Amino acid sequence: MKSELTILKIGGSVITDKSEGAYEKLKEVELKEVCRAMSENWKNLILVHGAGSFGHPHVRRFGLSPLGASKVHLGCLRLSERFCSVLTEFDVPAYPIHPFLIYSAEIVEKALRNGFLPVLHGDVVMNERIEVLSGDDIVVHLAEAFKAKRIGFATDVDGVYLNGNVVEKLDRNMLEKMLAEIGESEGKEDVTGGMLRKLQRLYEMGHKCSAYVFKGNYENLKKFLQGEKVGTEVII
Ligand code: IPE
Repeated sequence: MKSELTILKIGGSVITDKSEGAYEKLKEVELKEVCRAMSENWKNLILVHGAGSFGHPHVRRFGLSPLGASKVHLGCLRLSERFCSVLTEFDVPAYPIHPFLIYSAEIVEKALRNGFLPVLHGDVVMNERIEVLSGDDIVVHLAEAFKAKRIGFATDVDGVYLNGNVVEKLDRNMLEKMLAEIGESEGKEDVTGGMLRKLQRLYEMGHKCSAYVFKGNYENLKKFLQGEKVGTEVII
């Protein structure tokens, strides 16, 4: 089962409004569309979602003291609760895993083994100090732990842009060229680094598998979950 596993991250910008000043603004319609796509094909899947405006503004506003981290986590929890509730409305047995409380490949595997869809999210975590763990880092870690077959990043853009166009296939050499070109969406309060950091994490990953960056609408999600190519294919 492990080699057949797919990991999908729904970026915070897909399901929340991340524009400047937005605070805990859910995109209800988009969230439903995501859950509808998932409901048709969620076997052998691990779902990870970002925090969007339920996490990034909080880190800026409250910081990462124990009290700040507590407030950040509670924001992430509210989004996770909404996401998992809508998934269950679409008959998907979501198993919420909150990294602030517990995070390990074992708990994810146990959920999979028992017929759940594990749902993790970007969160605050207690390592040597309290820090932010992005959903992208979770994807990379779990892809290595489970030797995932494919991974996907659903975002609010069509893929990775180079010179104003979406790149169909991106390799390591092209990443260098992109440093000045990458179309970081403006006005977003992103404390975990956006697209460039996402790609760097992928290239740092020890495990080789297919990876895709694409716009997180219903059609694309459906295609990705059916095993089709979508958006930009990142050659790791
Ligand atoms: C961020 O997670 C977590 C916090 C800010 C606490 P992500 O980095 O995965 O979130 P998005 O996808 O950028 O919104």
